[in-house]
Amino acid sequence: MAYEIASIPGDGIGPEVVDAARPVFEDVAEQHGFELSLTRYDWGTERHLEEGAMMPDDGLEELEGYDAILLGAVGHPDVPDHVTLNNLLLPIRKGFDQSICKRPAILFDGVESPLEGYDGGDIEFVVYRENTEGEYANMGGQEHPGHDHEVAIQSAVFTRTGTERIVRAAFDAATEREGHLTSITKSNAQAHSMVFWDQIVEEVSEEYPEVTVERLLVDAASMDFIRRPEEFDVVVASNLFGDILTDIGAIITGSMGLAPSANIDPSRTYPSMFEPVHGSAPDIIGDGVANPLATVLSGAMMVDHLGEEEAGDALWDAVTEQLADANAPRTPDLGGSSGTEDVVEDLRSRL
Ligand code: NAI
Ligand code: MG
Repeated sequence: MAYEIASIPGDGIGPEVVDAARPVFEDVAEQHGFELSLTRYDWGTERHLEEGAMMPDDGLEELEGYDAILLGAVGHPDVPDHVTLNNLLLPIRKGFDQSICKRPAILFDGVESPLEGYDGGDIEFVVYRENTEGEYANMGGQEHPGHDHEVAIQSAVFTRTGTERIVRAAFDAATEREGHLTSITKSNAQAHSMVFWDQIVEEVSEEYPEVTVERLLVDAASMDFIRRPEEFDVVVASNLFGDILTDIGAIITGSMGLAPSANIDPSRTYPSMFEPVHGSAPDIIGDGVANPLATVLSGAMMVDHLGEEEAGDALWDAVTEQLADANAPRTPDLGGSSGTEDVVEDLRSRL
């Protein structure tokens, strides 16, 4: 098989980690008998500053024919984040109906959690985040600028279709894992959208009698991600809550530099997109020390999604083995002093 991948390294450390990880993906493809051809698109904030747009007008049409998209990060200190996010990342997620955002949080052997008393394997859950609507719907407006009655309205949108499909995907995942689902809302304060979400969880749960369901309010969940992360298996949450909680998931499992993410169109009509959870990390741009492993693991999720499960497993295994090896190179976010390229070189030798 041959797969065509659109690579959009984006801003900041995005190009550093995506370009560094590329040979790892090419190696694993060759070893498992398939071709992975990556076409690089220089879309992002530099393009916005030079040409006035993050991507071309027909950007989505250009991407549509690919089997998958590999993205680095978006975000630049010179341009407001809502401009960069709303003109590249969110249009791809929404335009390609990538309604399911899957984000595993795993504490690997050899990685130190900031939480005391947790060792490798003690934390292992996955967050299913609704990815095309909710609080990130681009619905609202601003009026009367400069007046005392200046107003901004940002509406959240929860559809039955959107809510049901993320909830069902999470239940499906729970049946293949430990059979425990935690649904996170704020239904005490948001009595329309979140009560609707609860109601759909209740309805769908009847189809999955073997899955135990726990409900948490997002404030309590933030606390419990830190207090008792070992008890989570599958977590399902809205776009905003899932976004916030997955940063907690990343940091309690060692580093933003290890957290991968998949934006999936479950119908497979459009290409799905794979990207690290982290952003463009302006504080370390150009230092050559960005951790490439979140991107490698995102690529593992990508090849798995393409049907090359063995190659996906091989990537997970190589990363797991490297992290468990106290003598292996590691980047400063993991307490080491090695660079991006050292980590990649070592990883290739383990494949
Ligand atoms: P960030 O994730 O870029 O950085 C947070 C912290 O984690 C920083 O200290 C950074 O150095 C560290 N970090 C992140 N990735 C790392 C890696 N691979 N290796 C080592 N250390 C790493 O989040 P921040 O600083 O809030 O946002 C920076 C920019 O990125 C903003 O413009 C923001 O809008 C954008 N952003 C973009 C995202 C995306 O493209 N999906 C997600 C989050 C933020
Ligand atoms: Mg985020």
